[in-house]
Amino acid sequence: MQLNYGVTSDLITQLRNDLIAANFTVETLTKLWGTRADAALHRGHRVPALRALAGAEQVSPAATLATVFVLGMPVTEREFAGAVPGLGIDGAISLGLVELVSGIIRPLLDLRPYSFVDAHGVVSWWIASDLGELSVGGALREDHVLGVGGASTTLSGLMIGTPVENALDLGTGCGIQAMHAARHARRVVATDISRRALELARFNARLNGIANIEFRLGSLFEPVSGERFGHIVSNPPFVITPRVEGVPAYEYRDGGLVGDALVAAVVAGAAEHLEPGGIAQLLGNWEYRPGDDGLQRVGAWVDASGLDGWVVEREVQDVALYSETWIRDGGTRPGPEFDRLYEAWLDDFEARGVTRVGFGYLTLRFPHDEPTLRRLERLDGPLGSGLGPHLAATLQAHDRQSALTDEELSRLVLTVAQDVTEERHYWPGAEDPTVMMLRQGGGFGRSISIGTGLAALVGACDGELSVRAIIAAIAQLLEVDELALGDELLPSIRELIETGFLA
Ligand SMILES: C[S@@+](CC[C@H](N)C(=O)[O-])C[C@H]1O[C@@H](n2cnc3c(N)ncnc32)[C@H](O)[C@@H]1O
Repeated sequence: MQLNYGVTSDLITQLRNDLIAANFTVETLTKLWGTRADAALHRGHRVPALRALAGAEQVSPAATLATVFVLGMPVTEREFAGAVPGLGIDGAISLGLVELVSGIIRPLLDLRPYSFVDAHGVVSWWIASDLGELSVGGALREDHVLGVGGASTTLSGLMIGTPVENALDLGTGCGIQAMHAARHARRVVATDISRRALELARFNARLNGIANIEFRLGSLFEPVSGERFGHIVSNPPFVITPRVEGVPAYEYRDGGLVGDALVAAVVAGAAEHLEPGGIAQLLGNWEYRPGDDGLQRVGAWVDASGLDGWVVEREVQDVALYSETWIRDGGTRPGPEFDRLYEAWLDDFEARGVTRVGFGYLTLRFPHDEPTLRRLERLDGPLGSGLGPHLAATLQAHDRQSALTDEELSRLVLTVAQDVTEERHYWPGAEDPTVMMLRQGGGFGRSISIGTGLAALVGACDGELSVRAIIAAIAQLLEVDELALGDELLPSIRELIETGFLA
């Protein structure tokens, strides 16, 4: 895509008008082919969607647009002209969206609706990216520009929407994170090493009427040297890739460094580019070696950065599964080429003694003073909705509880959060429970095991009595020393406040 924006901005407006007129939305597509076909598309198969469209009585403009831009199939010149009456075929060709050969229109880009809900309401956009494996029919180009994938929606769903003056999206790709950040930042800088990605990201911002993003070419933090931001977001090219001849280095996922060094570099760079109180949110992979825990490895990067840090590990894969996943993701199907790449991948891990790879999220914050937050945790359960607000609330709760002395903490009057339930398990016939758990419905859906004293304390947190008064009453009931019970329970209360069980 090579666009001259002076000439093409009118064409983009015409495209936008056609997409609106066709009602080319996520909802329309699901109505056209149903949720089963939607699910198949997510798994990389278009047959159910094509069958549904073939069975439709009438071909609507939305169906034609979906056939070309989502399913990557050709349509006739006449059909396509009917779907883009304002832009016209010539306009679509000028924008680099399609090609016309012997009366047949073929897509050159993927263009699909995308919708989400955030604190400001329901939003519908369209996102252009390079054609995926389905349309290309084989391995992807090394400069492939990714559309909105699972990792993209993970990061956008985690995004803390606190208003800031300046935000940075490092490795913007099709621009999706920058566009999300543009909703709470007055100005966003979006960077990428790929000129093609920046072209597409600029196109997407214009198509969706977003004007407060500046696009800059360059590697890592080099395009923002000397600048600081209130919010940095990055779904960086974190995929660990062998650095040998003959192994494709896909720009969209591979930052060109050895092992997990790219994620370490983004953590270190965040410290240089956050303003005091500023927050960085990243996704990443990290390596495990025997005797070298991956999560602790990330903890060491965070420590070295001098930032507040909260790392949530969602998944750990053994290196064989990791290699298979990413070789397949590049569009290489099982066969001799796949096996050759598989060997290279395993050689690379073996050379560094890596046995497993962790994946997760990092939330980093530039402390106003010394760092006070260092959480490294494995949370691999199902996630509630609204993770962004949950992350923001957790940071706030951390600040509140860590600023209190034990004396001040024990004077608080607390209540149990609305989404918390308690679970008790008994041996058959036993009077006392053998296991007691607190479970959280929202956020990370945490569950924690609690003892008798803590269960009694949480049960009594109804907004009436102070923590100290409750501890005194429990100590009397259990016939234990009040001070000793306080010493035992206060750290747990801090943790329950921080993680949102107690408010
Ligand atoms: C995993 S994609 C993320 C795209 C998009 N932000 C998203 O969330 O879907 C990583 C992006 O980083 C870019 N990239 C690769 N190496 C880079 C580097 N050294 N510096 C900056 N960006 C880089 C790639 O071109 C790609 O667009």
